[in-house]
Amino acid sequence: MNRNIILSLLFSIAIALPTFAGEGMWLPLLLKALNEEEMQSMGMKMSAEDIYSVNQGSLKDAIAHFGGFCTSEVISDQGLLLTNHHCGYSEIQSHSTLDKNYLKDGFWASNLSEELANPGLFARFIDRIIDVSEDVLAGTDAATTDAERDAIIAKNIDALKGTMVLKAYEEVQIKPFFNTNQYFAFVTVTYNDVRLVGAPPESIGKFGADTDNWEWPRHTGDFALFRIYAGQDNMPADYSAENKPYTPKHSLPISLDGVEEGDFTLVFGFPGRTKQYLPGVAVEQTLNVLNPAKIEIRDNALGIVGKAMREDPNIKLKYASKFASIANYWKKWIGESLGLEKTNALDKKAKFEAELVQRSPAAKTYLEEFDTYYKAIEPYALVKDYFSEVTGRNIELMRVASISKRLVDRYDNNGEEGYKGYAGRVIPFFEGLYKNYDASVDKAVFTSLVELYKNNIDAKYVPKAIQGNVNGLADKVYNGSMLANGEKYIKLLKEGSPADVVKALNADPGFQVYNEWAEVYHQEAAVQYSGINTKIDSLQRLYMKAQMDAFPEKKFYPDANSTLRVTYGQVNGYEPKDGVWYEPVTTLGGVIAKYIPNDYEFDVHPKLVELYNDKDFGEYATQDGKIPVCFLGSNHTTGGNSGSPAIDAYGNLIGLNFDRVWEGTMSDINYDKSICRNIMVDARYILFVVDKFAGAGHLIEEMNLVHPKLGQVNLMPTVGEKACCADGSDCSKCETMCTPEGLVKSCKKCMKKQKQCKKHKDCCKS
Ligand code: ARG
Ligand code: ASP
Repeated sequence: MNRNIILSLLFSIAIALPTFAGEGMWLPLLLKALNEEEMQSMGMKMSAEDIYSVNQGSLKDAIAHFGGFCTSEVISDQGLLLTNHHCGYSEIQSHSTLDKNYLKDGFWASNLSEELANPGLFARFIDRIIDVSEDVLAGTDAATTDAERDAIIAKNIDALKGTMVLKAYEEVQIKPFFNTNQYFAFVTVTYNDVRLVGAPPESIGKFGADTDNWEWPRHTGDFALFRIYAGQDNMPADYSAENKPYTPKHSLPISLDGVEEGDFTLVFGFPGRTKQYLPGVAVEQTLNVLNPAKIEIRDNALGIVGKAMREDPNIKLKYASKFASIANYWKKWIGESLGLEKTNALDKKAKFEAELVQRSPAAKTYLEEFDTYYKAIEPYALVKDYFSEVTGRNIELMRVASISKRLVDRYDNNGEEGYKGYAGRVIPFFEGLYKNYDASVDKAVFTSLVELYKNNIDAKYVPKAIQGNVNGLADKVYNGSMLANGEKYIKLLKEGSPADVVKALNADPGFQVYNEWAEVYHQEAAVQYSGINTKIDSLQRLYMKAQMDAFPEKKFYPDANSTLRVTYGQVNGYEPKDGVWYEPVTTLGGVIAKYIPNDYEFDVHPKLVELYNDKDFGEYATQDGKIPVCFLGSNHTTGGNSGSPAIDAYGNLIGLNFDRVWEGTMSDINYDKSICRNIMVDARYILFVVDKFAGAGHLIEEMNLVHPKLGQVNLMPTVGEKACCADGSDCSKCETMCTPEGLVKSCKKCMKKQKQCKKHKDCCKS
């Protein structure tokens, strides 16, 4: 069959597929029962077992939780790990100085010895997942109070952990699902030596920065490369120069064939947190009270920090990572609120609740109770968000004070021993924090946010310490507090006795302000908040169960909780507003069109312009000669899914998830399949940047590049196994079946792994 016939056949199959499904973050071990059939009807050629298997290598063996906050995947048999640039951002920043600025200029290790260690960073694999609901919930029916139920569960979990047989290096986490109606155990293996291998300059990795963040059309090459190192036995080991690149159970082949609208996509990763099953009254509170408050706080802080960053390159470097992370959720909340309004989320909830009550009369009582509780919790919830945003997140001196408070508490409660254990962890944390600290920027943030707090929060929650003139207070705190002077404070922490440190803290004006503030907050709001919240949590458990019982025909997926999930959909554009259709694919031409020389968000590196002008695209261009950059899919993702692989119907990497579209950022609360889209970097853009832009061809050599659409299907070629052609034969037949170089190259690679023949020619002849 010639190539064109194969291609047109494949395309007609794609067009005939049902449009799309997308909602849901599914547990890998339940795919067979819940999803396999639908996934295959959408074009997937794998089985559920290819994705998640306990007994043999499967896709899940290539997926690692990156530092606990992002996802990453292994893309070579030497432990090469792909994740987002924004996930590795603080590591890239930490290796940077103004002279050797890897954020600005990028970083590429030319061999293993140049790869950079990152203390504290880990890559965690899931070995197996076990449904332990029965064991964990045993005896809870008899519990008469929530506290009793919690105690039984805690005891059951302890007992269960005691009986589980774990291999060396394995750990187990037991986590609640569906608001503690179910429990699953995750057996994990964690690698702690993860080194930085390569990162493009920010002008690629963060192209469009905050202006384009959460938006489509997008042109960001948001990727970075790390490598997992292991001990001599390939098992986890603390950092050591002797460690070796990790040999994975599975690494993802990378497709050179790209995507078309309608193609099946699967995103595999660790989504952090969603709230799909809340009552309408909770959504209303987020929309009308909590989101606007948090947005306003960050608006103020970002205005101040952003201005300072634009004026001073030193501050820009120090604050880059913090600014990006504060700006990220600031913008997310704005989009989320707009989206909730635009999709009439509250009406939808009301309709759903009416139907629920019809099917399950008990739900009526639950909803009434929710109304009472949410009304009661509102003032406390507002103060809670304010207090944590202002003192825990945006004013750094208050953040240092809050951590220092814990140090003082340890000393007061557990003496020197307690103090020392905690100080050992806190000192390195503070060293990192102060490396990127500027007291004058922080003072301006303090002045603005204290004022805002006093204006917007009921006097009952305003401590005496922050009453009065805010400028005078800021002078007093920032001139008088040792916490504004990192060097001085760290010296004291390192050299002073615990009693000295505690004494100095208690006498410190900054520490005193925080202390008083925290005390008022705890007494007047936190206690009340948690009392009501406990009731809301336990009601939510009953409400969740009521929803599941009332709609037995519906497939329920658990809210995200940082556990491994599969989400699947298709490559798909969307209609952001009436009369406008967004195509699902962007190209390098779009990068050039956005180019603003020397702009801090839209500058383009001259080398990239040159490659574009020369059309020096190698094998990474589309059929019509363009370099693809990003694409959209209807996969249901959230924070934590960043760095997750986008995988094709056969198990090959086609892209790297990093964001969602503006109109769909409310998907955490109210997924709407018409406009919720995730944004991925096209794998070919990553390869193009690594190869052509960075000249890091040695990294490409490590990877396994494949052409699934040319008939080379490559079903699950676990390291050491044979890759297969579409007809099920092994790759020795590839040459006669499929065309050009790409195929032969991949065939060579797969045979090389088997070490069965030295040259691809030999293997293809045989
Ligand atoms: N919005 C994406 C996510 O939530 C990307 C964030 C990184 N980029 C940025 N400009 N802050 O993480
Ligand atoms: N950008 C997010 C992340 O870092 C992904 C998302 O929220 O869509 O995980």
